[in-house]
Amino acid sequence: MSDPVPSAASDDHRRGQPRLSRRAGRDGGEPIVSALMAQTLGRPHLVSLAAGFVDHESLPVEPLRRAWEHVWADRTEALSALQYGTTIGYPPLREALLARLLEADRRTADERKLSADRVVVTAGSNQLLYLLGSVLLDPDDVVLVGSPTYFVLLGTLAGLGAEAVGVAVDAQGVVPEAVNEELARHQAAGRLERVKAIYVTTYYDNPTGATMPAARRAELVEVARRWSRAGRIYVIEDAAYRELRCEGEDVPSLWSFDPDGETVVHVGSFSKSFSPGLRIGWGMLPPSLLGPVLAEKGRLDFGSANLNQRLMAAVLQLGLFDEHLAGLRARYRAKIDAILGAAERWLRPIGGVDWARPGGGMYLWVELPEGIDAGLSGPLFGRAAAEGVLYVPGECCFPERGAPPRKNTLRLSFGFPDCEAIVRGVEALARATGHVVAT
Ligand SMILES: Cc1ncc(COP(=O)(O)O)c(C=O)c1O
Repeated sequence: MSDPVPSAASDDHRRGQPRLSRRAGRDGGEPIVSALMAQTLGRPHLVSLAAGFVDHESLPVEPLRRAWEHVWADRTEALSALQYGTTIGYPPLREALLARLLEADRRTADERKLSADRVVVTAGSNQLLYLLGSVLLDPDDVVLVGSPTYFVLLGTLAGLGAEAVGVAVDAQGVVPEAVNEELARHQAAGRLERVKAIYVTTYYDNPTGATMPAARRAELVEVARRWSRAGRIYVIEDAAYRELRCEGEDVPSLWSFDPDGETVVHVGSFSKSFSPGLRIGWGMLPPSLLGPVLAEKGRLDFGSANLNQRLMAAVLQLGLFDEHLAGLRARYRAKIDAILGAAERWLRPIGGVDWARPGGGMYLWVELPEGIDAGLSGPLFGRAAAEGVLYVPGECCFPERGAPPRKNTLRLSFGFPDCEAIVRGVEALARATGHVVAT
């Protein structure tokens, strides 16, 4: 009989090695967002126009103090707030979210045959995006995304083994005709059933700043419904920045153009409009996804932080949210003016540099002269850090497949720095760009 104890020298290299799941092994390194956040926090002298942090000084300390007092004024309420809640979320908060969505879209619950049963509260909207990926996608399944798109989602999809396929975007967001063509290509290749969803950020896109006009929203829903032949193709509408409108009229959500509420998943968040520290995101789900998402969330955490949801519900009930939003919009408007003014003053003279004016949100998407590599390993990134500014290279926002990446692009975020730092950051970027153009 052979010796049952594994003592062969050939096993030595395996001894004690971690054996991660295939899913954990797929992604490798730290997500770029964590790296950028760490760099920002660790080097206070640098102006970070990279991390998507929100305006710091206006975070809602006072509204939350009042909400806290409100909840604590009633001992029964306070005790409930400290207890577990439900997986789907705190009912008064979900009711308030439904009412706000319908009001913003100028719809009624009767007209849409809706109740708050379809509203799910999650730990930030990122959790909902992950849950949707988890219940929809098998390895090799496909999600169509803008080229460029929200880069954290690209990491989520890669982690699930799914493929992000990029389609063209323009100044009005994802181009429905490009989606149509990509779906036709998948059909011709016999792979239409692999396409499970189309992901779009409809307001003040991260990274391009674009807002999709109403007509295009209707068209996109129509394209998704038309191609839902081999199974439904969902449209995931990420509305994380809807409330950060600094000019123009609000546009009805893409969800409001979905006639039967079966195609569009509407994803919202209080992170950008109130406080990311509360980690409150939410979604309006088609009935077909409600059960699977809740089952998955139940396995994960059986409900997001109950206390935070009660505080947020109190903030809404006391009218503190809209009050806060009015002040926040004024601050972001000043920041948009600051970054556009600085770009005009410092970047414009370089020649061949361009950007689109965002009507809200936190991002300016910049195109540099053709041939300038703004990527992590290109000459501009290091030079910009040496001059005192960090940005997100545009290349991080392009999926590997589909419309090709443009290396001469970058994303500037004006959420966190104040106006003076924004101007300093853009000036530093212009110095670095001028240097790279000249060499
Ligand atoms: C487009 C977009 N969606 C979703 C999120 C996630 O935000 P949260 O999980 O804080 O709601 C972000 C954060 O930056 C974002 O930019």
